[in-house]
Amino acid sequence: MTETTGNDQATSGNPTDAIAIPAASPPLSKNAQKKLLKLQRYEEKKAERKAFAKEKKQKEAERKKREWEEKLSSVTEEEKTKLIESRKELRKERMDKRSEEREKKMERLNKAKEVGQKIVVDLEFSHLMNPSEISSLVQQIMYCYAVNGRCASPCHLWLTGCEGEMESQLLKLPGFDKWCIEKEKQSYIETFQDQKEDLVYLTADAETVLEDLDLKKIYIIGGLVDRNRWKGLTMKKANEQGIKSAKLPIGSYMKMTSSQVLTVNQVVEILLKYLETNDWQSSFFQVIPQRKRSETEEKETEGEDSERKKICTEGSSSEVTVT
Ligand SMILES: C[S@@+](CC[C@H](N)C(=O)[O-])C[C@H]1O[C@@H](n2cnc3c(N)ncnc32)[C@H](O)[C@@H]1O
Repeated sequence: MTETTGNDQATSGNPTDAIAIPAASPPLSKNAQKKLLKLQRYEEKKAERKAFAKEKKQKEAERKKREWEEKLSSVTEEEKTKLIESRKELRKERMDKRSEEREKKMERLNKAKEVGQKIVVDLEFSHLMNPSEISSLVQQIMYCYAVNGRCASPCHLWLTGCEGEMESQLLKLPGFDKWCIEKEKQSYIETFQDQKEDLVYLTADAETVLEDLDLKKIYIIGGLVDRNRWKGLTMKKANEQGIKSAKLPIGSYMKMTSSQVLTVNQVVEILLKYLETNDWQSSFFQVIPQRKRSETEEKETEGEDSERKKICTEGSSSEVTVT
């Protein structure tokens, strides 16, 4: 399965979306053209895979229903009533547990609004992405929200510049209107105009290395899926706005096979892990996929990776559940 939340920023877009190149895009190299063609083929196959998965799910549900009915028909009336009652009870228990978990999560997220580390996803780049990249970003945001909700001490998550195409795509997510997250139409620079000094744009192109997180600061992440087409864009934005910038200290802890540019959800996840552990190394190793790290590193950390692999697979699913 292609990862929607992976480092290579593969798409999770609607299969019917054309992979168009925005008009303002720089010309594509031969290599990029090849990649684009591969992506187009992947999208075409995606609809087929989705239909196949749906059919499989339906068949499985029908099989279970048949099994249940057969079971009921093979027992006495008294046993039948008992079976139905116990099934109802089980369902109720499951529902109660789920709603209790949801309540606890909402408590944690509401508390984070008062005391949590502010992390902003800057959604002002929708004009630079094609539909499939926007869709991928929406999936990444959904993943960020889900991961944050599961944290014992979540961060105070903001979506700024949340309007236009980004907002309409996010609104299509079931339950998005109920998310306990700050949704702000204004840009972060307007939203936090009295705290401009505290704004730190996180960007792989910064010279300054982020050594620690500071609760008073507001960390901004560029809401962009660009397969590195818009290199240096967020750095330029931060410079033009006269705000601070910093890169994650990846180089001090691990070697990467290619660039140190991560996806939005990976950056959020790393920050969340760091808030929990105060340890960059373990945060990077738990979040950055194996294939992005150089081989020498792998041998030393195989054990740590197995758990991460599991999380990666869960996270890359387009069925990340947000309750
Ligand atoms: C896919 S990257 C976008 C890359 C884009 N070309 C740019 O100019 O930022 C998504 C965002 O994650 C954050 N990010 C990715 N890698 C990072 C790193 N190594 N250090 C700090 N922030 C990073 C940045 O905020 C970035 O805008």
